Amino acid sequence: MVSKALPGPLKGRDLLSIDDLTPEEVKLIIDTARSLKERYYAGERVIPVLRGKTIALIFEKPSTRTRVSMEVAALQLGMTPLTLRRDELQLSRGEPVKDTARVLSRYVDAIAARVYKHSDLIELAAYASVPVINMLSDLEHPLQALADALTIVEKKSDIRKAKVVYVGDARNNVANSLLLVIAKLGGHIVMSAPKQLMPSQEILAKAKKAAELTGAIIELIEDPKEAVKGADVVYTDVWVSMGEEAEAMERRRLLQPYQVNTKLMELASNNAIFMHCLPAHRGEEVTEEVIEGPWSVVWDQAENRLHAQKAVLALILSD
Ligand code: CP
Ligand code: NVA
Repeated sequence: MVSKALPGPLKGRDLLSIDDLTPEEVKLIIDTARSLKERYYAGERVIPVLRGKTIALIFEKPSTRTRVSMEVAALQLGMTPLTLRRDELQLSRGEPVKDTARVLSRYVDAIAARVYKHSDLIELAAYASVPVINMLSDLEHPLQALADALTIVEKKSDIRKAKVVYVGDARNNVANSLLLVIAKLGGHIVMSAPKQLMPSQEILAKAKKAAELTGAIIELIEDPKEAVKGADVVYTDVWVSMGEEAEAMERRRLLQPYQVNTKLMELASNNAIFMHCLPAHRGEEVTEEVIEGPWSVVWDQAENRLHAQKAVLALILSD
């Protein structure tokens, strides 16, 4: 029950980073998402616990999954989502983030934003009087990581016993949030990338701090073949994230040995699954054979964005 799962620790809170959440709060979100998903499949498509509320969804970058799943999540909880592209806002003509934050707070109950600079989210949250949710920044993609954790729990039951191997650009938003969420949940995560694209010291320090509490295992292994040995989950993301186009050539050169292909998947455990936040670039970070093959759970993973975000919205915004 959603109402029973609302002890209120998340009420009114911002969600800019997975590190904003305690291990118990991450588990609460996943449990709530599972319960909402079950109810959805039992026929309760609309659970209007947020009836009458409004959320502004600001997009500085393109989006398919996040935009649609956030709009649908809001609607299924009885809320009205207002999707605002940056070029439609006065932000694009130089109105400061801090002014936008204060004005929108007078109209809506929450603001979610996809931005280039994580510092803009921090400014938005500092000046908004309503909760602010990160829908992807250059630093993190927490809503993705929560849906990913839900997917791993569904596919592997005990997330603490699953060896999750992230192969590719291990320094991007998706990698950072995945590392943090597995650390918070006491799992085993291996980051496999060339030295330059390993997680930053700052993210590693946060993940290690969480691991001290939860017993999570964090490993950095440059050789992708070594890294995926015995993996239960192989995860990758694009080599060139939105906003990094200027570095595209260098990144493609560095990451060539990190392509997730059949040969690499065959080194993982027999029941390994393949995950990707999407959109995918077939022929770059993953081959057609893998993303369309028996390992792939990417469509279930994409669906879980909806259920995980319903949990986040319900827990932050329910009265
Ligand atoms: N995974 C993800 O965030 O996809 P979109 O860019 O389509 O929102
Ligand atoms: N790392 C990718 C994720 C897209 C959902 C990007 O930022 O472009």
